[in-house]
Amino acid sequence: TVLVVDFGAQYAQLIARRVREARVYSEIVPSTMPVDEILAKGPKAIILSGGPSSVYADGAPALDRAIFEAGVPVFGMCYGFQLMATALGGTVDNTGAREYGRTPLKVSKPGSTLFEGTPAEQSVWMSHGDACSAAPAGFTVTASTGVVPVAAFENDERKLYGVQYHPEVLHTEHGQQVLEHFLYRGAGLRPQWTTTNVVDEQVAAIRAQVGSARAICGLSGGVDSAVAAALVQKAIGSQLTCVYVDHGLMRKGESEQVEKDFVAATGVQLKVVDAEERFLAALAGVCDPEEKRKIIGREFIRVFEQAASEIVAEAGAHGESVEFLVQGTLYPDVVESGGGTGTANIKSHHNVGGLPEDLQFALVEPLRKLFKDEVRMVGQELGLPEEIVQRQPFPGPGLGIRIVGEVTKARLDLLRDADAIAREELTAAGLDRDIWQCPVVLLADVRSVGVQGDGRTYGHPIVLRPVSSEDAMTADWSRLPYEVLAKISTRITNEVADVNRVVLDVTSKPPGTIEWE
Ligand code: XMP
Repeated sequence: TVLVVDFGAQYAQLIARRVREARVYSEIVPSTMPVDEILAKGPKAIILSGGPSSVYADGAPALDRAIFEAGVPVFGMCYGFQLMATALGGTVDNTGAREYGRTPLKVSKPGSTLFEGTPAEQSVWMSHGDACSAAPAGFTVTASTGVVPVAAFENDERKLYGVQYHPEVLHTEHGQQVLEHFLYRGAGLRPQWTTTNVVDEQVAAIRAQVGSARAICGLSGGVDSAVAAALVQKAIGSQLTCVYVDHGLMRKGESEQVEKDFVAATGVQLKVVDAEERFLAALAGVCDPEEKRKIIGREFIRVFEQAASEIVAEAGAHGESVEFLVQGTLYPDVVESGGGTGTANIKSHHNVGGLPEDLQFALVEPLRKLFKDEVRMVGQELGLPEEIVQRQPFPGPGLGIRIVGEVTKARLDLLRDADAIAREELTAAGLDRDIWQCPVVLLADVRSVGVQGDGRTYGHPIVLRPVSSEDAMTADWSRLPYEVLAKISTRITNEVADVNRVVLDVTSKPPGTIEWE
């Protein structure tokens, strides 16, 4: 394991992902973790991340220099580089000489461990105020910039390395190569961490945890719960039962995808609860978005709990017990909720399907060490169909929050048809990977006049909301080709009764959220 010490910027997760892209397993630890605890984890290498602080700022995160004395290879980046420099007797000045963004780096030792095989001048991403003017004794300066005399150094004997810039960001040329040089050449690690290993390891861990007991898993139709279920199914087979609550708010073909494709690919035991009528009855007359969300969440939990207790009762009748609940919690959730170390709780877990914590089960979370892209790779490895593994995000409350106005069966059917056409055309145009998602929204309370055939119509508009995004926190509207938009518009107005207008949402997030409700 490579441990990434998180000094409190957003960079630690990115570094951990880059290390894994180099096929070396990595985990993140907070900078508040005592050094002996970090070393007790037996890391093969340690990376000190960047951070928002100046090493001279009051309350700036510090580092016990014992971390450099343990014989473990260490790579300091940005703030981590400056900490390393000061801890080992180098000089870091608050010169006011700032560098932000793309900066040319001059490599003075092209044959050095980190820079071997990379050009003498490369463009790197900087973000710092303080600058290192003298490397610690015993260190070789390997690169500089116009502003910073010491932009990289290394001590090959002690296996200590540092760069002032951010090798983990995409804007840094050769950043991944420099990181890999540290891992392979500096720390002597081999690229051995693969999704095959992950699957084997998790299967063994799940078997050890669950033993001969039984487990249940709520499937939402999303990637995470599907991959978690498939992993557990591979480990314990028929001891697992999955529950899929069909609330009638899914898109066309979606429930079938879970019921047929997923079962076909995994052979999982599936309990499908048809709860459409129940959800529609609960939603009758409700127009307020927050109220809709609350009702859908509440009904979902009730239905799931009932299904779970039925499974428990059936198992009990056979003298077995259901002790475990499978959840698709991912590594970013774990890190953001304190990494299990009891430190800063920035955001509490939001678990699959929003199941309540007081469900009386122990949790099985086979994805809690993985990033989203790794979950997709594991899904592929497990033989899940592409349609499930590469699925775009879809909100838990489903089409219920894509009908502006009251949710009725007729409106859902109409929206399902319009949505299916949009998805079909986007897929046909090869745009699925270019967009993050494309909500299709029915403005059920709005009407406009149209003319179709020889007659006047008075129908509803459909909104297309294609967005591009990296994490759904911010988003921009996708500039889709006009021909594709035209085709979608023509087909929807021709094929879907009661829709006589298609409009495009050209709002970024912020200010607009991705969904309309
Ligand atoms: P907004 O509308 O907040 O959406 O910009 C951000 C992302 O989250 C999805 N979304 C949800 N997902 N349950 C979910 O599982 C929800 O209640 C929910 N609301 C929004 C949305 O599709 C987008 O990807």
